[in-house]
Amino acid sequence: MNASGAAEEAFVDLRDVTRTVLLPDDQELHILRGVDLQVRIGDHTAIVGRSGCGKSTLLNILGLLDVPTSGTMIFDGTPVGKLRNNTRAKVRGASIGFIFQQFNLLPGRTALENVVTPLMYGSRKEFWGRNAIGMEMLERVGLGARAGTQPHMLSGGEQQRVAIARALVRRPRLILADEPTGALDVETGQAVMDLLDTIATESGAALVTITHDLNVAARARTRYRLDAGVLSPTDTVATSAALVAVGA
Ligand SMILES: Nc1ncnc2c1ncn2[C@@H]1O[C@H](COP(=O)(O)OP(=O)(O)OP(=O)(O)O)[C@@H](O)[C@H]1O
Ligand SMILES: [Mg+2]
Repeated sequence: MNASGAAEEAFVDLRDVTRTVLLPDDQELHILRGVDLQVRIGDHTAIVGRSGCGKSTLLNILGLLDVPTSGTMIFDGTPVGKLRNNTRAKVRGASIGFIFQQFNLLPGRTALENVVTPLMYGSRKEFWGRNAIGMEMLERVGLGARAGTQPHMLSGGEQQRVAIARALVRRPRLILADEPTGALDVETGQAVMDLLDTIATESGAALVTITHDLNVAARARTRYRLDAGVLSPTDTVATSAALVAVGA
């Protein structure tokens, strides 16, 4: 609710969303089964669930990389079904930053070259100002001094910080992180999540994190569990702890 008492509109609003794929033997695989999810600007949301339950599929839909089979999805006020493919790609580039478990940095390019890549597709101002904007972002993640270094010369935590700088360089309003600490040790993972939380809060973005890591889930303000394609809220950290204990 906002000050006037009206319900605030969600930035992304999924209602009864399903995702079904047809397997080679003509069987249907129901990956997502009627997902309801609202993500508001400023939200920090964690989604936990066992391997294969549909987490990445859901994140890809939230990130406009995939579309629901049925149900409705509103992204920043626009029904996603109405967006053409190239408009969807443009909205994605301008509004969404992705962070992956394996960092996905371009090999053979420096940290700065990696960070500025999204700016190549931005406005003229972003394009021509890309090196200054990229440097500012690298400094923000504490890696200004490593701008000329290639990914293979950086530690895992440093590579993920470069990936965060790249994901956030266009100031996206939605940040989607798929197991961002999965390839890091606990302490490095915490430092990376601290940074991600802080920058998301500073820039007023919404952050959605998929994770198996209890510590990561615990720091989100809203938590959900995805179980065989069915999403449900889990309110307490204790519930998340129980989930992890059973190997979810
Ligand atoms: N395009 C596709 N065609 C066929 N099967 C698919 C497709 N995409 C996903 N799947 C299947 O759907 C299920 C959910 O996949 P998804 O990648 O969303 O799982 P996940 O929860 O992210 O798992 P993990 O934690 O292991 O990353 C898996 O069984 C996967 O094999
Ligand atoms: Mg996955």
